[in-house]
Amino acid sequence: MRQSISVWVVALVAGGFVAGADLQAQDEIEGANAVLPWAYVLNDPAASTEAPDPDEVVTVPGSSVSMPRSAINIDNGPPDWHPDRHPPMPEVVAKGGGEGVVACGYCHLPNGQGKPENAGVAGQPYEYLVQQMTDWRNGRRRPGEPRMGPPSFMERIGLAASDEEARIAAEYFSSIDFKPWVRVVETDSVPNTRFAGWIHEVVEGGGAEPIGTRVVETPVNLTLTKLRDDSSGFIAYVPYGAVARGRAIVTTGGANSVACTVCHGDDLRGIGPVPALAGRSPSYMARQLYDLQTGMRDGAWSDLMDAAVKNLTVKDIVDIVAYTASLEP
Ligand code: HEC
Ligand code: HEC
Repeated sequence: MRQSISVWVVALVAGGFVAGADLQAQDEIEGANAVLPWAYVLNDPAASTEAPDPDEVVTVPGSSVSMPRSAINIDNGPPDWHPDRHPPMPEVVAKGGGEGVVACGYCHLPNGQGKPENAGVAGQPYEYLVQQMTDWRNGRRRPGEPRMGPPSFMERIGLAASDEEARIAAEYFSSIDFKPWVRVVETDSVPNTRFAGWIHEVVEGGGAEPIGTRVVETPVNLTLTKLRDDSSGFIAYVPYGAVARGRAIVTTGGANSVACTVCHGDDLRGIGPVPALAGRSPSYMARQLYDLQTGMRDGAWSDLMDAAVKNLTVKDIVDIVAYTASLEP
């Protein structure tokens, strides 16, 4: 029985015509991963590769820093490969804070550019970043797919962080310009990928497959991303035509939404405390649209997004995030 439900749903979702309410019914049956598996990533247990040599001394291009691989460890905070490319990190970003407050820079990277499984926080408005931390602390920002490790980890950090820690981190990240980070490529066929380390990893020699109705965001250089190089970005493969369809929704609202530009700005670089969307991870943005739709993200300001997300389909979400990611930040 369960299997026949899945088959039905996969067919609907693949067609991309499911309206908001039906997506939520699906989520209740099988979780957000069943609706947007490319955004709410669950690692493939078979994909764990052999552990690389912990004693090997590693570095990245353009850096004078080197360290044994074992030094890249969540307890040590982020490796700071390019200290000349960002302001000095405050303690909470570089080393962490009180109990349960893990160094922000380990996941968001020292320059705040972030990765698909977390978020780019650089250049977002100070008030916005502080509000998000307040929302977590108040239990109003919850992970749409608790089985996906990083967002659940962020929830625990948000619950643990003090107002003071949140403000120091927000001041730091909001002071840094967000740089071009994601190259969007329209295609009908993508390299075969598997999920490991909460991201799409290209399977070496694995051939190609149809893209379908999804975004496949993968590191430009997997080795550098694994070393947490904050100068090595991502490629997002999106379906043909997605960018133009997304532009139509963002500027007019299309059939299922409202124009986004009124609040996020004509160039989607944000206005006042409203966050920037341009050039940021499409996987992250897709999770937010869906978490806002299902109400898992229900912060003090989230009601402003209700009309925009209420009736979005999977196809709309793919098109919107393809377009936002394609913009210059
Ligand atoms: C273990 C990894 C990890 C660490 C460490 C971490 N974060 Fe996060 N953070 C995440 C993830 C994952 C998300 C995205 C959650 C989602 O997809 O819903 C996120 C999202 C955020 C956002 C939301 C951005 C937006 O655009 O709304 C803020 C703000 C944030 N983190 C602040 C912090 C601060 C401040 C710290 C340090 C005190 C920190 N994070 C430490 C993983 C982490
Ligand atoms: C009425 C104003 C308004 C409109 C219209 C609007 N937004 Fe938003 N948007 C906001 C606000 C305010 C937030 C912050 C919500 C929160 O704090 O929970 C936000 C948050 C977001 C986020 C999460 C960003 C992040 O970094 O986590 C995304 C994605 C987003 N909006 C996309 C859109 C899209 C796409 C549209 C149009 C289809 C749109 N918005 C229309 C006001 C608006």
